[in-house]
Amino acid sequence: MILVTGATGNVGAELVRGLAQAGEPVRALSRSGRLGGRAGEALPAGVEGVAGDLDRAETVRDALKGVRAMFLMPGYGGQRQILADARDAGVERVVMLSGGSAATGDRTNAVSAYLIDAEESVRESGLAWTFLRPTSFMSNALRLVDQIRAGDTVRVPFPDVYTTDIDPYDIAQCALHALLTDAHTGRALELTGPQALLPADRVRVLGEVLGRDLRAVGLGPAEARAELEAAMPKSFADAIVSFFVDGTLDESVVRPTVREVTGRDPRTFEQWARAHADAF
Ligand SMILES: NC(=O)c1ccc[n+]([C@@H]2O[C@H](COP(=O)([O-])OP(=O)(O)OC[C@H]3O[C@@H](n4cnc5c(N)ncnc54)[C@H](OP(=O)(O)O)[C@@H]3O)[C@@H](O)[C@H]2O)c1
Repeated sequence: MILVTGATGNVGAELVRGLAQAGEPVRALSRSGRLGGRAGEALPAGVEGVAGDLDRAETVRDALKGVRAMFLMPGYGGQRQILADARDAGVERVVMLSGGSAATGDRTNAVSAYLIDAEESVRESGLAWTFLRPTSFMSNALRLVDQIRAGDTVRVPFPDVYTTDIDPYDIAQCALHALLTDAHTGRALELTGPQALLPADRVRVLGEVLGRDLRAVGLGPAEARAELEAAMPKSFADAIVSFFVDGTLDESVVRPTVREVTGRDPRTFEQWARAHADAF
């Protein structure tokens, strides 16, 4: 049995689907225990939905029974206790979704700090581990849905910053390999998409896929910060401004890791946009 936390999220939902297709029994954990899925989509056979709150380890304990490997979301309050309970329950392996900024070691940055702490708790757990350190997710483009529904002008933060965004599908495929084989134990996998693109490039691709004449307008640093602060705690907004305005995180480099782990190239932004066109 494989336990997937964050099972309704961008990565977790892809991982649940991928494991089910591979014929693996899956326990899919979210706060509601319902899997949701896209409208009209049947739940994969062999998948059991369970409710649990990663901030409260006692609500996750039962879900660990009979589990051999688990996919763990980072940064929740119960993480150290959940890892200790996992070990007691006989779980052998944990694959954790981290992020590239964990490699900076910068604990003054709120995002890096929670990822570093999460990685540390896994290293200390005594379980075999693999960390996934992806770049920004292609699914972040879903934040543009309201603007794109409202008109053809799309305001984008950090207009001059090239990033090699990755499709959560590819993160999930790497997670699947790390959960099912021993080949990636003790490795932090730096995962990227296949191309470095500017925000305006992604808007152009979205326009082509949607058959729309979309035009990107870059936000200045102050406007970008204000939009972030409206959507998340200030410390996280500060962290992201530090990454992409001050340049403390470089996500512009394409890495071969997805191909090395899965045997095929990561998906392009155009492939992601075609697969998610209905969301726009
Ligand atoms: N977005 C990026 O560009 C990026 C880049 C690098 C790393 N990351 C990392 O990726 C992670 C986000 O992954 P994602 O996009 O796949 O997730 P997501 O789509 O934001 O979904 C979050 C998942 O966690 C579950 N969840 C939330 N709070 C929970 C709780 N207290 N207990 C149990 N489950 C809970 C949610 O389920 P319910 O709400 O149904 O309970 C959902 O399944 C973050 O840790 C982030 O640091 C993101």
